[in-house]
Amino acid sequence: MEFSLRTADATTAKTACLVIVAAEGKLTGVANAVDKATNGTLTALVKSGDFSGKKGEQLLLPVTNGLGAQRVLLVGAGKDALNDQGFIKLVKAAAKKLVALKVKDALLCVEDLDVTGRDMAWRAQQAARLCGEAVYQFTKFKSKKPPKVALKKVTLQSSKGSATIKNALANGRAIASGVNLARELGDLPGNACDPSYMATRGRAFAKNNPKVTTKVLDEKQMKALGMNSLLSVSAGSDNPGKTVIVEYKGGKKTDKPVVLIGKGVTFDSGGISLKPGQSMDEMKYDMGGSATVYGTMQTVIEMGLPINLVAIVGCVENMPSGKATKPGDIVTSMSGLTIEVLNTDAEGRLVLCDCMTYAERYKPQAVIDVATLTGAIIIGLGHHPTAIYSNNDELSEQLVAAGNESADRGWPMPLWDEYGEELKSPFADLQNIGAGRAGGSITAAAFLAKFATKYNWAHLDIAGTFWNSGANKGATGRPVPMLVEYLSKVAK
Ligand code: BES
Ligand code: MN
Ligand code: ZN
Repeated sequence: MEFSLRTADATTAKTACLVIVAAEGKLTGVANAVDKATNGTLTALVKSGDFSGKKGEQLLLPVTNGLGAQRVLLVGAGKDALNDQGFIKLVKAAAKKLVALKVKDALLCVEDLDVTGRDMAWRAQQAARLCGEAVYQFTKFKSKKPPKVALKKVTLQSSKGSATIKNALANGRAIASGVNLARELGDLPGNACDPSYMATRGRAFAKNNPKVTTKVLDEKQMKALGMNSLLSVSAGSDNPGKTVIVEYKGGKKTDKPVVLIGKGVTFDSGGISLKPGQSMDEMKYDMGGSATVYGTMQTVIEMGLPINLVAIVGCVENMPSGKATKPGDIVTSMSGLTIEVLNTDAEGRLVLCDCMTYAERYKPQAVIDVATLTGAIIIGLGHHPTAIYSNNDELSEQLVAAGNESADRGWPMPLWDEYGEELKSPFADLQNIGAGRAGGSITAAAFLAKFATKYNWAHLDIAGTFWNSGANKGATGRPVPMLVEYLSKVAK
């Protein structure tokens, strides 16, 4: 996908589709110019009641006498100012329509929208991201391939051109690229995307890129490091676990890196604590943390951010077998803490904790783990925000702010000692679940907190945000936009 900026009059633009917005009850800016150039077509449509400007309304005008465009997509902007999500909804729907229309290019005019507190640069970045996301297709396993999306070029209309807006378009494009990588990895089934496949994709970052190196730890190497907690999860699977480490050196040698850790459970059956069958297929998405860590790495590389970034993804399959870990088994983690595994379905934390100890060697400025960790967070927050936990208030606030700025929101959660106390085991240093189901996402985070003793750390529970179920089943790629925004601020 290609993005560019146009400052000349929109009415003369040669484009397959001119996308314009019109508020309810008034024609201003580009809509007004288009109305004038087309001999009052829009005024007539409003008068006849064929277009009212209601928020979300769309009307395609196939005839465009007086314009350079081959067709016009009229989008209703409503009466009131839009918030971020309102803007996104309109642009997303317009992009979807452009894909359905099979046009090769379009000119998008969103400057006249009243978006509270958001300048053209913000709109440009979001528009590029949303158009980039709209062309995502996952057709790998269809024997009859649906046609490739035609949309190749989107131009943004702006009365003023600037390097800032051009840069915002490039950033939006890079974010969409990372989001789409995360979606692709998420949508791949467990028999295609297993730990070895994740290792292959991790190695690809380092190809032809002197700033990137990839290291893959196999089970033998992990055993030597003492990563027995992670290994206890892959014990039941015939596919060996892998920890993949991707290092990007875009900053100065002396800059402390940010470490991103991803939960990479390529399929979570629950292990011996087997899950019920209902929707179990969706547990192919249990590597969403790793997918979004890879997606973020992809975007950071494309943007060339001047930071040092390390991605550590713990990739395993959680399966039941004669070799699988059993409830009651006790394992010694890399940190030395012993863990009583009371439920083999609480496996994500067992994977992450060893990756967290491994991360200590980087003396990082911050460590952020990303994980589809608990069903409980969906009960608590639903599917709208990513849950944010942290042992450092400033880091937590930075992530909340990054979520707001990128419109990929997160919400802070508590991490009080009381939650951690539920993890006391009669036989080991820790048990891997809390006293009951109550506060399940928080006790999971409290478990991880026990391993974050050497650095500032945050944990993102993305169980509610990484994928959609139902008719729109598919990965979202969240929270790549939030993480990229956070890292962009680190770079400054
Ligand atoms: N991968 C799941 C969490 C999950 C479940 C995410 C459903 C999205 C939808 C995780 O490994 C898990 O099974 N967690 C258990 C923990 C429990 C056994 C303490 C859960 O949430 O039920
Ligand atoms: Mn599980
Ligand atoms: Zn899981």
